[in-house]
Amino acid sequence: MTPAADPASPAETTAAPTTAAGATGAAPGGGAAPADSDLVRAARGLPVRRTPVWFMRQAGRSLPEYRALRAGTAMLQACQDADLVTEITLQPVRRHGVDAAILFSDIVLPLVVAGVDIEIKPGVGPVVATPVRSVADVDALPPLEPDRLDFLATAVRRLVAELGPTPLIGFAGAPFTLATYLIEGGPSKEHARTKAFMYAEPEAWSRLLDRLAVSAATFLRAQVDAGAAAVQLFDSWAGVLSAADYATRVLPHSRAVFDGLGPRDVPRIHFGVGTGELLALLGDAGADVVGVDWRVPLDEAARRVGPERSLQGNLDPAVLLADRATVDREVRRVVAQGRAARGHVFNLGHGVLPETDPGVLTSVVDLVHELAAG
Ligand code: CP3
Repeated sequence: MTPAADPASPAETTAAPTTAAGATGAAPGGGAAPADSDLVRAARGLPVRRTPVWFMRQAGRSLPEYRALRAGTAMLQACQDADLVTEITLQPVRRHGVDAAILFSDIVLPLVVAGVDIEIKPGVGPVVATPVRSVADVDALPPLEPDRLDFLATAVRRLVAELGPTPLIGFAGAPFTLATYLIEGGPSKEHARTKAFMYAEPEAWSRLLDRLAVSAATFLRAQVDAGAAAVQLFDSWAGVLSAADYATRVLPHSRAVFDGLGPRDVPRIHFGVGTGELLALLGDAGADVVGVDWRVPLDEAARRVGPERSLQGNLDPAVLLADRATVDREVRRVVAQGRAARGHVFNLGHGVLPETDPGVLTSVVDLVHELAAG
């Protein structure tokens, strides 16, 4: 099941020719080491050999091999099984030749590991048994003890050995987006209860986001210390906030997550959906790369974030369900508009939809690689 020949000695697999780079033997990211990969170079605004490409939610339900492996194992259980995490993370790298792997996990995992009662319901999302509705609820949240993350460090070390020159992206959920699940008790559209709590209980709000920032930073440090070459902070639902509220009530806490990385010199990607009005602020929170959804074209997004930051995005995931000519045209447009940015990491504007044909994803990778980098 696992590609690591012997999980007890992952270091020995480092030089194996059958790394996830695949049968071609070529490093998809171009470089000899993750730190010199096109992904890391684009994130830092350095010249690249090819525009790097990966897909949010590349590991998951669009792949039959994922569905086969996951059968009979609950999502949050799978996320804590180092063998499954390793194999599921590698699947899209092998199949599509993407320029980065993203750790198979979930944004709620740090809370779950700390002992919060959360379940991921298929087709629904994270559901919290006892939502956070008061200061007392905030204070009752258990802290995340770093020594509970041994399974994660094991999986990351094994992955880094398997991936060779292909970078592994570690990730965490940003304090605001995690707070929406804790306060609403599950997924929601308007996040009205979350905003009401933010306005009505500013001190409890700030304390909650502080705590979430600490656990997100612990989760990220564990991944980087085990060898992740970049990190992404998902603030998926921050786009429901005005720029003023985001700047004063959320950004400082997201900045605290990045600051929690200390001197660890890995590129920091920061992404949210519907964040057109927040793009500059997402950068100000401490990002090297700002992730953009499909609503704002990348040349305009480059103007908004300025010349100090790279961009990631932003093909509409729904385009992948359209005809080939449309996919081709839209990929070319995104690559062309991405040339306005300091550096461009090609991605979707949000996660891969489960009904996406995996063959289309592979053809997008090939096309992005054929087009000249900016
Ligand atoms: O490939 C990857 O991107 C890595 C794995 C990954 C997952 N979740 C696996 C997953 C990542 C990066 C996430 C992050 C995540 N989780 C976010 C931020 C990204 C985003 O989409 O905005 C959010 C908001 C969550 C919370 C969450 N977890 C949702 C909304 C869902 C979907 C529920 C559903 O079934 O539609 C999940 C479950 C989840 N996380 C799945 C996967 C592969 C599906 C569960 C399954 O396969 O049974």
